[in-house]
Amino acid sequence: MKLRIAVIPGDGIGKEVVAEGLKVLKKLEELSRVSFEFKEYPFGAEHYLKTGETLPDWAIEEFKKFDAIYFGAIGDPRVKPGILERGILLKMRFELDLYVNLRPVKLYHPRLTPLKGKNKIDIVFVRENTEGLYAGAGGFLRKGTPQEIAVQEMINTRFGVERVIRFAFEYAKRSGRKKVTLVDKANVLTYAHDLWERVFAEVSQEYDLETDHYYVDAMAMKMIRSPESFDVVVTPNMFGDILTDLGAEIVGGLGIAASGNINPETTGMFEPVHGSAPDIAGKRIANPLAAILSASMMLEYLNLEKESKWIEEAVKRAIAENKVTPDMNGNLKTYEVGDWVVKFLEVVA
Ligand code: NAI
Ligand code: MG
Repeated sequence: MKLRIAVIPGDGIGKEVVAEGLKVLKKLEELSRVSFEFKEYPFGAEHYLKTGETLPDWAIEEFKKFDAIYFGAIGDPRVKPGILERGILLKMRFELDLYVNLRPVKLYHPRLTPLKGKNKIDIVFVRENTEGLYAGAGGFLRKGTPQEIAVQEMINTRFGVERVIRFAFEYAKRSGRKKVTLVDKANVLTYAHDLWERVFAEVSQEYDLETDHYYVDAMAMKMIRSPESFDVVVTPNMFGDILTDLGAEIVGGLGIAASGNINPETTGMFEPVHGSAPDIAGKRIANPLAAILSASMMLEYLNLEKESKWIEEAVKRAIAENKVTPDMNGNLKTYEVGDWVVKFLEVVA
């Protein structure tokens, strides 16, 4: 089976961690029947500073012909905040209509959590990725005056809410999970999240799955107190953004947080949750596990379940044997962790 993957390493540690992800994927070609054709794209800060181009429309069209996009991170202190994020990341999410942001929060080893006595955390967040407060609707009135008004509108369409909730239920069913939890703030956001609650109740009727509900503030507490009680969680854009950072922190931090930007009808994009980390870029200490686990998610999504599991197992081994970078209290370099994962891949495959 041949897979065509568009690769955008991006900036800073994006380049360093994507190199390790590709190393792991290439190893799979030896161990299984999968083969890859990678095409690398230069988009990011350097390219922008040289050409003024962020992400051209032709590239979006080209991406649609790939099986998946593998992305590192963008961002550079020399570029004004927002330009690359909006011009590259958000553009990709919106133009490809990648309405699901899938973010697993999984504890691979008890020593990685700051929560005392917790050893089983395995939550999958399904975050709405195209609407809500991040849709970019709003504006200023009397900008720069004492009477200034700034409005940021929260967009919730029946269509958008239903498709992401349906995805959560389908995902739970397909992956043998038992429960779907809705997180909202319907007690205060009485219109927008009332819609979420009604659609959730409706869609849940079609599935033989347990359901549950939390307001977002209570959810923040519950995730610390008893994270083991969650399975699949579906939530609007902003709450998903915040809760998944909290989630990352209770299972080992940004260095291990993977994600997928998905629309089952088009090409998905897989990326570590972290950014380009200019503070450690070039020092060869970036944790490549988030990028490697994102590659594993990509394969699962492309129905290469077995190969996906191998990568996950190899990562688990690397963590268990402390073959990790300083952010996880190890003393290895980025590429050394990649080498170990490759080595463990041979063992588990
Ligand atoms: P960041 O995620 O780049 O870094 C936050 C902190 O976590 C830093 O101290 C960094 O050293 C550490 N860190 C992150 N990833 C790590 C890894 N793999 N291993 C070890 N330590 C790691 O977020 P920050 O500093 O807020 O943003 C830096 C740049 O990245 C900005 O330009 C921002 O806009 C951009 N960004 C891009 C994202 C993307 O491409 N998806 C996501 C988040 C930020
Ligand atoms: Mg975030």
